[in-house]
Amino acid sequence: MSPKRMLDGQFYHLLPLFFLASVTLLHGGNGFGVNWGTMTTHQLPPDKVVKMLRDNGVHKLKLFEYNERIMTALMGTDIEVMVGIPNSMLKQMSEDPGAAASWVYNNVTGYCYDGGVKIKYVAVGNEPFLQTYNGTYLQYTLPALRNIMRALDESGVKCRYKTTVPFNADIYNSPESNPVPSASDFRPEVKDLTIEILQFLYLHDAPFTVNIYPYLSLYGNNYFPVEFAFFDGLSKPLRDGNKVYKNAFDANLDTLVYALSKAGFPDMEVIVGEVGWPTDGDKNAKRFNQGLIKHALSGDGTPSRKGKIEVYLFSLIDENAKSIEPGGFERHWGIFEFDGKPKYQLDLTGLELEKGLAPVEDVKYQLKRWCVLDPKATDLDELPESVSYACSLSDCTTLGYGSSCNHLSAKGNASYAFNMYYQMNNRQVWDCDFSGLAIVTDDNPSEGSCQFPVMIASAHSSFLLHNYDCLLVVLLRIIGGFVTLFSLLI
Ligand SMILES: *[C@@H]1O[C@H](CO)[C@@H](O)[C@H](O)[C@H]1NC(C)=O
Ligand SMILES: *[C@@H]1O[C@H](CO)[C@@H](O)[C@H](O)[C@H]1NC(C)=O
Ligand SMILES: *[C@@H]1O[C@H](CO)[C@@H](O)[C@H](O)[C@H]1NC(C)=O
Repeated sequence: MSPKRMLDGQFYHLLPLFFLASVTLLHGGNGFGVNWGTMTTHQLPPDKVVKMLRDNGVHKLKLFEYNERIMTALMGTDIEVMVGIPNSMLKQMSEDPGAAASWVYNNVTGYCYDGGVKIKYVAVGNEPFLQTYNGTYLQYTLPALRNIMRALDESGVKCRYKTTVPFNADIYNSPESNPVPSASDFRPEVKDLTIEILQFLYLHDAPFTVNIYPYLSLYGNNYFPVEFAFFDGLSKPLRDGNKVYKNAFDANLDTLVYALSKAGFPDMEVIVGEVGWPTDGDKNAKRFNQGLIKHALSGDGTPSRKGKIEVYLFSLIDENAKSIEPGGFERHWGIFEFDGKPKYQLDLTGLELEKGLAPVEDVKYQLKRWCVLDPKATDLDELPESVSYACSLSDCTTLGYGSSCNHLSAKGNASYAFNMYYQMNNRQVWDCDFSGLAIVTDDNPSEGSCQFPVMIASAHSSFLLHNYDCLLVVLLRIIGGFVTLFSLLI
């Protein structure tokens, strides 16, 4: 698929494809949900993050997989949790009801008691029908969903659970010849299977979950009408019959709603499982996220569906170990920095409170010590090689275009790269060498907004970047929309 030009300021055909549409009346808890991804080298202590969530009035949390330490931190809170089953487990879950039952028992129903965890949803797979997966998970998704649902039903606990499958918006679109929401349908290759899943979910009073990324539409297409990504009403609206669309999010959500209606599910409950805006090299994160929150909680809904929209923001905290194949922005979706500091003021309650976000408190850092290019180094022939090695095993996205350290000199770049490698690889003496070009220093090399970070002290590094297997896992776990984007770019 190649980007097509928009005609006369109208929206070109990819638009409906990239925007997911979904609106539903909120059930239960108020306010906004967040996705908490944990692909980071240095994990904040879960109990401190959970306290921060409560301080900020967040009552809904989505996890990509079960994590025992996070579950323990959530015990006794009123935070409602959606816990995911990764795609890599779908095959086993679909073939072995016993494995599904023990997963459910160990990771979900075992928390059903007073003072346990309020798990509300189990998300089976993550964007399993994504085009880029070439159908790998098509045959496993529904059987896995069935086995998980049966295990939940038969668990005998008093808690009530719902299942869902988070889909990427690439499972539906509108034809090029008529790129409006009302012309949409599911992608032909996955339509029958999607409808079977819809029937199953509907029968169990469970919601349809969809991930929406206006940022990627904008990023992936020079002709995308920028203002249409936002909620300020500054864009030229898109007309579809008597419906008027003022933003891409609503247009995408209604594209789904029309596809659902055509399939016979006009009142299917819809949840937006992921939507957000990154900060790296982009100044619009606050504008988008605050507009989204206000819109979703306002009750205005979309032109096709009134009411509050249930949304999980992507994401809570930056993840420095995500694949950057789609772009450096991948590691900067958080509304919080890696160390739990808010990046900008945001009101998650939609109540227009001006108090800003509460940070993660009492964060412990490693010793204030950095690794930089030795100012006395003269033989710099090997420098570029050392820098790219350091960056390949750490995170240099902040040096990229538009980012806070993009103005550094070549030597500044080298120091930044050496430091990131040193910090992310547990700061042994040998992590600051680079053929003798690097030295450890107590002087903070940060300049203005370009921060040379010191990692947080964490007993549990989720993994080391040296670990090749883990790096592979990271590369394989690219979240859906980004893969779609990538396939658009190539
Ligand atoms: C969840 O449950 C399964 C089955 O009992 C167990 O093997 C697994 O370690 C648990 N955790 C995760 C992350 O799936
Ligand atoms: C999907 O197929 C393409 C083309 O055959 C291939 O390059 C790609 O690696 C495949 N991806 C997956 C996830 O199997
Ligand atoms: C520093 O690194 C960034 C990212 O690789 C690059 O875009 C920039 O040109 C580099 N600066 C210099 C002066 O080499």
